[in-house]
Amino acid sequence: MKKIVQFAVLFIWLAACQKKQENRADYSEQYRPQFHFSPQKGWMNDPNGLIYHAGEYHLFYQYYPDSTVWGPMHWGHAVSTDLTHWQHLPIALYPDSLGYIFSGSVVLDSANTTGFGKDNEAPLVAVFTYHNMEWEKAGRKDRESQGIAYSLDKGRTWTKYTNNPVLKNQGDVDFRDPKVFWYAPTKRWIMPLATGDFLQIFTSTNLKSWEKASEFGKNEGAHGGVWECPDLFAITTPAGIKKWVLIQNMGRGAVNGGSGTQYFVGSFDGKIFKNDNPPTQTLWLDYGADNYAGVTWLNAPNNRRLFIGWMSNWDDYANKTPTHPWRSAMTVPRELSLQKTAEGFRLFQMPVTELEKLRQGEALTLENKNIDSTLKISAESVQKEVLVEFDLSKTTATQLGFVLANAKNERVEIGYDHLKKQLYLDRTQAGKSGFSTKFAKRHTAPYVAGSRLVVRALIDNSSVEVFVDNGRIAFTDLFFPNQDFTQLTLFAKGGSAHLAQVKVYELRSIWQ
Ligand code: FRU
Repeated sequence: MKKIVQFAVLFIWLAACQKKQENRADYSEQYRPQFHFSPQKGWMNDPNGLIYHAGEYHLFYQYYPDSTVWGPMHWGHAVSTDLTHWQHLPIALYPDSLGYIFSGSVVLDSANTTGFGKDNEAPLVAVFTYHNMEWEKAGRKDRESQGIAYSLDKGRTWTKYTNNPVLKNQGDVDFRDPKVFWYAPTKRWIMPLATGDFLQIFTSTNLKSWEKASEFGKNEGAHGGVWECPDLFAITTPAGIKKWVLIQNMGRGAVNGGSGTQYFVGSFDGKIFKNDNPPTQTLWLDYGADNYAGVTWLNAPNNRRLFIGWMSNWDDYANKTPTHPWRSAMTVPRELSLQKTAEGFRLFQMPVTELEKLRQGEALTLENKNIDSTLKISAESVQKEVLVEFDLSKTTATQLGFVLANAKNERVEIGYDHLKKQLYLDRTQAGKSGFSTKFAKRHTAPYVAGSRLVVRALIDNSSVEVFVDNGRIAFTDLFFPNQDFTQLTLFAKGGSAHLAQVKVYELRSIWQ
């Protein structure tokens, strides 16, 4: 009997050790991003509740702590003072009897329109979607509604409003992802909400009762899938022209497959958003496959419009990428600008300048070289930033660019095809791809280069973010090589390419 008890104790102890081991996350695991935000363990999807408040950038996110696949949604929480290093905080919102806590936003209710404020502390108010799984299983269409919660301690603890939901479903199966902001001219809160494959806009004076103001998009832009996670904001061009931009994520049918993000440029009068462009035109925020559900921070200092996306592809493989004990990371925070181009107003995006402090030591620099075939750059570190400028007026090559590779001949190729007038990112031979037939692909963007091709790339253990021409075109793509990509090679095909300059920085980890 004693032996059996001893065995049982030993067994329980071993099982507990194993569990502990499984849950250990020290940010040195294979494929663990070193300068991107990822949760210590568990599943993460959309960024939520992005707001700058009292010196902190809040990043809430769709989170399921108990597994690395999607499940009952919570809001995870982290804060940063520099958009580079993140501090993990306890889970902010847990599912309850009304449902899972889906995506949404956080506002600062400075005028205490909700009455949640106390002792002169303005409440932070989270506006999120309740998704009732029981009702979904029962086939009820009204499964999604909007709820609110407030915090009086800088987002550390949250109290759900007792009269939730504040916006009941009106029969739309998809009725979610409120991205609320204050519109001063009408003294109203505005809630853009994704419903099916179009947008509805609601307004409120107190965040508790909502009125429908308008609809947008039934016949505008792309409709390959359900619309999710909208974001509507004003932005001013460097020349001082003010426009309204609507970011609209779409679950399927994006430009290079699966989930992706389109945007519209137009005007907003407190009720109605009008698109300036032809309804048939679609503008894409990113041409990679792995930038989804991205939205922007409210109240960022100096009027900056800062964006972050979820670095995965819902439709194609989000639940299957080979990482453990966490799944998914965010993109780096990016600063958006609106610029007038020959084709019209376009969103540009660049990594926030704060990230430059991750650069370690001097850049490895090469200048003024003709590349006839390949030029190896001795930059062995895995995490790096590459800034490269080709002089196309002295280039005869039909394709040029650079390759990340390892000794197993696995590679990611990033380049410009002069003949096709196309930028591309090719991850057809980038290592593991067996988890989805949709992963090993080449992604392209139409682009007519001028006399200079200027590319900046941020390379982490399992991702690359490419910004061409000051952020005019972006690609965000994951990769899972069987050995780290330590080789960096510039190339020219079908002629020679003139390298004006390349600079390569090693990047520090944000987790050490
Ligand atoms: C987008 C999305 C949202 C929803 C959330 C659920 O990725 O589908 O529409 O609120 O994820 O986790």
